[in-house]
Amino acid sequence: MFTVKNTWKPSLEQECLLIGLTDQHSGQGGTLKEADQAMEGQISVLIKEGDISWKKKSITIIHTLGKLSTKKLVFVGLGKKKDVSFEGLKECFGKAFKQLKGSRLSSVGVDLDSFLTDDIEVPDAAHALSEAFALATYEFEGYKQKPNEPERKIEGITVFTNADVEEVKASLTVGYVYGKGTNSARTLVNLPGNMLTASDLAQYALELAEKYGFEAEVLEKEEMQNLGMGALLAVNQGSEQPPKMIVLKYQGKDEWKDVIGLVGKGITFDTGGYSIKPKDGIVGMKTDMAGAAAVLGAMEIIGELKPEQNVVAVIPSTDNMISGHAFKPDDVITSMSGKTIEVLNTDAEGRLVLADAITYAKQHGAEYLVDVATLTGGVIIALGNEMTGAFTNNESFFEQVLEASVEAGEPMWRLPITEKDKERVRSSRMADLNNSPGREGHAIMGAAFIGEFAEDTPWVHLDIAGTATTNKPSELNAVGGTGVMTRTLALLVERFEVNE
Ligand code: BES
Ligand code: ZN
Ligand code: ZN
Repeated sequence: MFTVKNTWKPSLEQECLLIGLTDQHSGQGGTLKEADQAMEGQISVLIKEGDISWKKKSITIIHTLGKLSTKKLVFVGLGKKKDVSFEGLKECFGKAFKQLKGSRLSSVGVDLDSFLTDDIEVPDAAHALSEAFALATYEFEGYKQKPNEPERKIEGITVFTNADVEEVKASLTVGYVYGKGTNSARTLVNLPGNMLTASDLAQYALELAEKYGFEAEVLEKEEMQNLGMGALLAVNQGSEQPPKMIVLKYQGKDEWKDVIGLVGKGITFDTGGYSIKPKDGIVGMKTDMAGAAAVLGAMEIIGELKPEQNVVAVIPSTDNMISGHAFKPDDVITSMSGKTIEVLNTDAEGRLVLADAITYAKQHGAEYLVDVATLTGGVIIALGNEMTGAFTNNESFFEQVLEASVEAGEPMWRLPITEKDKERVRSSRMADLNNSPGREGHAIMGAAFIGEFAEDTPWVHLDIAGTATTNKPSELNAVGGTGVMTRTLALLVERFEVNE
């Protein structure tokens, strides 16, 4: 996909060349200067007159009319040089690639050095480029007999730079791996419930394990019964589809210690069960496995980059259906931990399946836990669609998760769990816990419930109900699954440090 070359020459034949432009362009040497000379100073004139803009995210395409062997120059406005951020750069690249894809340009050159600033060094620029390329050009094809648009693809990118070719190649590869892993998660989220059952999800995980040499385990219903996974089994009770508890292990250290547990909610369709969702609320519930998708996307990145860490991924998967066998409000169930749960709402099923998954992750040696789940509508009311809700029982572990999220460009915002909140999930006359203490602060109730199973293990809960999907396309996203938290989880693992 990427070729790296040391210098660009006006005589190079290619379809187009991307050049970054900031407010400081007049001092810019290199390719811009050479191209300007070859164009007899016309680029300078166009910039001066404002026809080519350096404003952030403005894209200007000019035809070189035979003056250069490169047919078109694509100027990518980066804004003020001192304000360019890694995330902002990704958005600028994303916008450019979306536009090029639309205009059927299939081979693209990039003048990498024109995208550097005091803060953005060569590896960052290369990473931003390749990750943005993967993210911005992602498309879920769908199932139409005749697609809306004929396929448009950018076939290859040639990166020109004065920096070390191998160094640039390495960063391009890492960025591309992050983008691709996110795209895999997006695809899982976009697949309809009839095309992605718990069995399909397990099959997908096994293929990933095969490809990257992970140790894998998929628990069947009978084994779950033997292990006493009463919470996951209760949610599955109304379904025709068998439940799966999916486990992948990646060992990057000599010993199986300091294990990070990544737990993802894998509800392949959520009807709400007998606490059934209204007709408008049920549409879209194929995406209720986005937490599982993020975990699998992260495992793909981990498999590619092979960090020196130990990771266990645990995905409890089933759909949440209605039938004569289904679990009901008022039922009391016993989780794998032994804790009993009074079911007040069958639509609060995510916390039930996660309860057993967290317990199982700990049994597999997880000493740090992150769970990712489309858990509550409440988090969307609280934080909207741009921020993932975060909860924790451990400040220093949370710091590491937060840092990864900032670097990944996947913002999160912390919400509290107080002692009073814990009392509310413990307030059942029938059982140790209840799964739905009421609508007040219910994102917090979901988190507090899961926290009962994490116990003293450092744990972060990420509620992605608002961020897992989007209905408006942006520079780096298409409508549908966003793959959110894939990159954060992978980065957390890459950068993780044990706090003694
Ligand atoms: N899967 C839903 C949460 C959800 C809502 C995800 C909207 C994505 C978009 C979850 O299982 C659920 O139904 N939660 C309930 C919890 C309530 C019953 C305590 C909710 O948010 O209403
Ligand atoms: Zn639900
Ligand atoms: Zn759900």
